[in-house]
Amino acid sequence: MALKFILLGYMGCGKSTVGQALAKSLQLDHMDLDYYIEQQERASITQLIAEKGIIYFRKVEKKHLETLLKLPNSYVLSLGGGTPCYYNNMDAILKTAQSRSIYLRANVPFLTERLYTKKSKRPLIAAIESKEELAEFIGKHLLERSSFYDQADAVIDIQGKTVAQLVKEINELR
Ligand code: S3P
Repeated sequence: MALKFILLGYMGCGKSTVGQALAKSLQLDHMDLDYYIEQQERASITQLIAEKGIIYFRKVEKKHLETLLKLPNSYVLSLGGGTPCYYNNMDAILKTAQSRSIYLRANVPFLTERLYTKKSKRPLIAAIESKEELAEFIGKHLLERSSFYDQADAVIDIQGKTVAQLVKEINELR
């Protein structure tokens, strides 16, 4: 019986790190949608967005998401932060047979601290200079996105927890 674990949540919530550890604990393949897009499109996400634009990126993100959701095997899939929030992506995620979507939820101060030093790698926030502005941006953006994230089959708060604790919590959902 195939089982697909689909991790979603805002940038910096640990979708990739937790996804890798979860896959290891369950002896499943780990797939990372951003990485898959980069391989398929032969360009980094930063390059894709800079050269072809955000709308192009959202279109290829949808296309490659659909491909991965259709795979017959069990896996852990880490999405990009915006993936559930465009087109009918969240519906497609929820309708995927034998799937369990999990929202890794974090609050604004936590995400701001995590993202401030790593923002250069993230095109949507790279140009924001001060921590205050970043916190304001994340606050508004998270509010817009929460209605999609909240539809996940399960929600896990991540603050103050280790990766191992999060993996354990996800395993206990089953
Ligand atoms: C995005 C998040 C990124 C990446 C792209 C857009 C977003 O993924 O897909 O830069 O819209 O939140 P991470 O959440 O893995 O940083």
